[in-house]
Amino acid sequence: MAPRPERRPPGRVLPVFPWDTLAETRARASAHPDGLVDLTVGTPVDHVAPVIKDALAADSAQPGYPTTAGTPALRRAVVDSMARRHGVTGLTPDAVLPAIGTKELIAGLPAQLGLGTGHTVVIPEVAYPTYEVGSLLAGCTVVRADSLTQLGPSTPHLLFLNSPSNPTGKVLGIEHLRKVVGWARERGVIVASDECYLRLVWEGEAPSILDPRVCEGDHSGLLSLHSLSKTSNLASYRAGFVAGDPALVAELLEVRKHSGLMMPLPIQSAMAAALVDDAHAAEQRERYRIRRERLLPAVEAAGFRIDDSEAGLYLWATRDEPCRDTADWFAERGVLVAPGEFYGPRGARHVRIALTATDATIAEAVRRLA
Ligand SMILES: Cc1ncc(COP(=O)(O)O)c(C=O)c1O
Repeated sequence: MAPRPERRPPGRVLPVFPWDTLAETRARASAHPDGLVDLTVGTPVDHVAPVIKDALAADSAQPGYPTTAGTPALRRAVVDSMARRHGVTGLTPDAVLPAIGTKELIAGLPAQLGLGTGHTVVIPEVAYPTYEVGSLLAGCTVVRADSLTQLGPSTPHLLFLNSPSNPTGKVLGIEHLRKVVGWARERGVIVASDECYLRLVWEGEAPSILDPRVCEGDHSGLLSLHSLSKTSNLASYRAGFVAGDPALVAELLEVRKHSGLMMPLPIQSAMAAALVDDAHAAEQRERYRIRRERLLPAVEAAGFRIDDSEAGLYLWATRDEPCRDTADWFAERGVLVAPGEFYGPRGARHVRIALTATDATIAEAVRRLA
């Protein structure tokens, strides 16, 4: 009898969970007599807009199953918001799909696109960890690269972009994105562009991969990933979406229907309301702009250089020393920041400082850095 194949717990292929390695630094920062100022995780701290809460409440008594595709109102709201907020033309409701938070979408994307052993996924050099995690869970090979020349003649199956970037705040311009799209089209590479921070730009503009100036109105092979966690303070609701190539979206819908990846109906209604209303998103953006204006000069005055960071909710700071030393320097002042190595080896001399803290917390951080 052939031996029974061994079970392979997925955790074995995954990297060490980086936040677990921060326990000692966290303990040191927490011991500060005035308490901990936590600027690590980018979790929203401001209120959920009434227009969103009302929509949630209005559908809270619905007993039936929701659809995986999303309500017609939600799909329409996604299409209209992409046009209004990001100048994306040519989307139709069947080219968009809600996700139960964008992290879920990213973690499942390689497998849901039919990728696995023998397939290669390209992720940014310094990246949100879930691109690597989703690729490894599917059994893919992961390559870190920021430029097409780094890839040489090799042809991956999927390429993740993230502009504005978490953690660096770097924005990829129209020309850069055009080159990536042209290169990917020639080779049949799917481009998944994580655009969670597209509304949070402080200098210049951040185009979507679906912007007609980038893709010339042709969405084939392109997926744009969005989250309402930061722009609408909906991290606790779990609300995101994918938009782009209708054929790829149909494939995702098929798999996600079978897997029961249905966004709860009251959340679908809340998300639609959030996408229709631009006012609350503009107010939230303004809160972050003010916090950035306060914190950035304080970090610079404390002797750090801020690289990139022209968009997004983080400052990417360095003193040209190992990131753990920098994190320790902050911890002595009771401030906790994320070591850049959490995001890839190229981040080893930076730290990521989140702007997602209350005005009082940001003011306290500024005081301690002075
Ligand atoms: C770049 C990036 N993509 C995706 C996500 C996930 O967002 P969500 O809260 O919708 O899962 C985050 C959250 O921090 C992020 O920074």
